[in-house]
Amino acid sequence: MLGIKKYFLNKRYPLIPYQPANKSTPDKMIHVISAWVGLESIIEDILIHFNVERNSCIEFGVEFGYSAVVFSNYFKSVKGVDIFVGDEHTVHKGDHYEMTKESLSEFENITLFKSDYRDWIKQDQGQYDFAHVDIVHNYKETYECGLWAVKHSTCCIFHDTESFPEVKKAVHDIAQATGKKAYNYPYHYGLGIIV
Ligand SMILES: C[S@@+](CC[C@H](N)C(=O)[O-])C[C@H]1O[C@@H](n2cnc3c(N)ncnc32)[C@H](O)[C@@H]1O
Repeated sequence: MLGIKKYFLNKRYPLIPYQPANKSTPDKMIHVISAWVGLESIIEDILIHFNVERNSCIEFGVEFGYSAVVFSNYFKSVKGVDIFVGDEHTVHKGDHYEMTKESLSEFENITLFKSDYRDWIKQDQGQYDFAHVDIVHNYKETYECGLWAVKHSTCCIFHDTESFPEVKKAVHDIAQATGKKAYNYPYHYGLGIIV
């Protein structure tokens, strides 16, 4: 995006800049294609900074499992929810549920669910320590899934705040609607954090 557009976007939807105190590499990683690469280095910093407990994590948007494996380093249990067929913004569109399940099978604390977030949020009343939203990057879906995730977690992160202005707007609006604080880390396509 042009610098001027980004300037006005940040003015319109101001988020608090997130500056990690420390970066670290998780022990367990998986080598698959992902736009998430690089963000693994700030997850532990976020957990420490916001005092997040390390029992449960839920992720919406698993794809090939890069971020799910990162979370598996820090949480006793990680649930990954995805339709596993891709969406209008992903390069890969075919059904990759079985393939992803197989490649994540060694990570025993990750459980995958082939489900649309819309069906998932109708039946889950659980509370999680941490949530991650990285589904199709439209406003409506990010807002709907993200609002549920923020209400059902202590700390919720959103990928692609920089590459998709609709995601940044949704993060801003969810924080306003819930009275929470919204931060933004502008690298690796952008990570919004609501606490
Ligand atoms: C950008 S990818 C996720 C990338 C992943 N977090 C990583 O670490 O590489 C987006 C994923 O969201 C999934 N998705 C899109 N719309 C969805 C929906 N309505 N419900 C659940 N998953 C959805 C797609 O199937 C796709 O696998």
